[in-house]
Amino acid sequence: MQMNTFKIAALAGDGIGPEVMREALRVLHATANKFAFQLSVTQAPVGWAGIDTAGKALPDATLALCRESDSILFGSVGLPDRDPTIPKEERPERAALLRIRKEFGLFANLRPVSLPKALAHACPLAKERQGDGIDILVVRELTGGMYFGQPKKTEDIGGGHHRATDTMVYTTSEIERIAHVAFQSARLRRKKLTSIDKANVLENGILWRETVTRIGKQYPDVSLEHMFVDNGAMQLMLRPTQFDVMLCENMFGDILSDEAAALGGSLGMLPSASLGATTGGNTFGFYEPAGGTAPDIAGKNLANPIAQILSCALLLRHSFGLNEPALAIEQAVTRAINSGLRTGDIFSPNEPNARKVGTREMGDAIAAAI
Ligand code: IPM
Ligand code: MG
Repeated sequence: MQMNTFKIAALAGDGIGPEVMREALRVLHATANKFAFQLSVTQAPVGWAGIDTAGKALPDATLALCRESDSILFGSVGLPDRDPTIPKEERPERAALLRIRKEFGLFANLRPVSLPKALAHACPLAKERQGDGIDILVVRELTGGMYFGQPKKTEDIGGGHHRATDTMVYTTSEIERIAHVAFQSARLRRKKLTSIDKANVLENGILWRETVTRIGKQYPDVSLEHMFVDNGAMQLMLRPTQFDVMLCENMFGDILSDEAAALGGSLGMLPSASLGATTGGNTFGFYEPAGGTAPDIAGKNLANPIAQILSCALLLRHSFGLNEPALAIEQAVTRAINSGLRTGDIFSPNEPNARKVGTREMGDAIAAAI
């Protein structure tokens, strides 16, 4: 039988991107060997790396590679201190990351946060608030809301003053499709969905709540509750164990997913999947660590590669349906952590068996545990 070859575009980007990508690809290839599936991985520049090599944050050749691939494994882009003269529309955040999200219709962003038992010390909350463990899936709408709504502009209004406008806009169908993703995700978990909005103030919040409630009737097995975003932010700190799936619009999801990530020990542990519509049984996906480029530690072998490595597990599961290999990667990460290996972000001198390691050593241990 002819085996499928899965085509992956690997775009490492800036900051810690290249060093964590290197470890992730080693783990991915180790997994392909172990489970005997074929991968074809092609690397291409993006972000400042794209600007430096091809004059654009998303070079044409990189975009073409993405179009002919089955999925994208992404590192991170954006270096806030680089060249302030480059217009904001051409900077990597907008010209590469947001452009790819829109271009490929990646409307559903899944960010799973869990606090491994062994990392209880890295969670900023007291032990009693951690309960039996924190395990939350943030489902963030990714191609609507204030990120993309028009008008979006800054005008000169004279007298040395400016006026900036961003527009929060959602249509019923945009809310419906992300709600379906959230309910279906909840079905595979603990069957509880908390929908986040600001229905007490925003028109968007009212439409969001009505629409999610209506879609919820199709999922009677999932219990649905609504929460205002300010309360949601507070509840994450007070009683995070009440959450299973949190459904958020784009901006609220950006904020709450970072907050939730802190509960999982470190932003360096949080993978994410950005998915579009499923066509012909295939889901094109974009997989990236939720943390940023961390320029302060870039190139020093200090970064935690786990978010990038776990993003590979999400890629195998969501785009290729390879559940067993995906699980193998997740278990290899757990094994490395349980064996006491810690990058700086999850290290505590009070842990008796912990050993501080670099990016590469963590990658080695995880690849070896596959
Ligand atoms: C994220 C990031 C991006 C976002 C930035 C880098 C544009 O914070 O993926 O959460 O705001 O979506
Ligand atoms: Mg963010």
